[in-house]
Amino acid sequence: MSRTPIIGGNFKCNGTVEGLTKLVSDFDADWRGGLGGVQVVLCPSALHLQHVKGLVSAPGVNVAAQNCIIKEGAFTGEISAGQIKDLGLGWVVLGHSERRTIYGETDAIVGEKVKVALSKGLSVIACIGETLKEREAGDTLTVCYRQLSAIAANVSDWSRVVIAYEPVWAIGTGKVATPEQAQDVHAALRKWISANVNGSTASSVRIQYGGSVNAKNCASLWSKPDIDGFLVGGASLKPEFKTIVRSAQKSKL
Ligand code: PGA
Repeated sequence: MSRTPIIGGNFKCNGTVEGLTKLVSDFDADWRGGLGGVQVVLCPSALHLQHVKGLVSAPGVNVAAQNCIIKEGAFTGEISAGQIKDLGLGWVVLGHSERRTIYGETDAIVGEKVKVALSKGLSVIACIGETLKEREAGDTLTVCYRQLSAIAANVSDWSRVVIAYEPVWAIGTGKVATPEQAQDVHAALRKWISANVNGSTASSVRIQYGGSVNAKNCASLWSKPDIDGFLVGGASLKPEFKTIVRSAQKSKL
């Protein structure tokens, strides 16, 4: 089954109007001739969503928020799924490990957010992944299945969900998972989805790898059959992001 490759650029809390204008205009100019069947999702801070959306014209390039809240209303400082949709955007990233570890988002909270975002018509990149301590204790799959199960319980439409496997120990550390480590987890996640959702969802759902992906390591990761794209942090703020997108234009051997 062929799955459309999907590359996310997670800018996190980085960027200025001037810097992002340069960066995104340069990406966009490069991509205007087409992305060779790859889908790109740029994820700027909430403040820059509308500006970045205005800079993007290449087909296949989408803009996503990095988070949303469960309910609209008296929640100072938050943004809602309905507001993201209202801005004309189609995507949101949920459950990023920085949201989970720094801001205390539990599996239940992430699950609720997935439910609300889908109900508002958004597509979701839902992040999961184990810490170094959990990996060293042999708990990688237990943790990933627990997080995935909280997400799966809230999915009403799997065609609008992308799973991002991002081992916490690989995020922003320069310590990328080996292609084999990533492939093993991706294959296990697909198996879990087959057993707990259904076989056709397991073969159609896209699973991104994230954590220290760069221009040098992307090709070997991309060669693995169950890796359908990347969620890129630091390197998405650099011209090398184009090389990462290009790596996913190659067909798998
Ligand atoms: P990184 O971040 O590429 O800088 O490791 C990935 C992410 O947090 O999505």
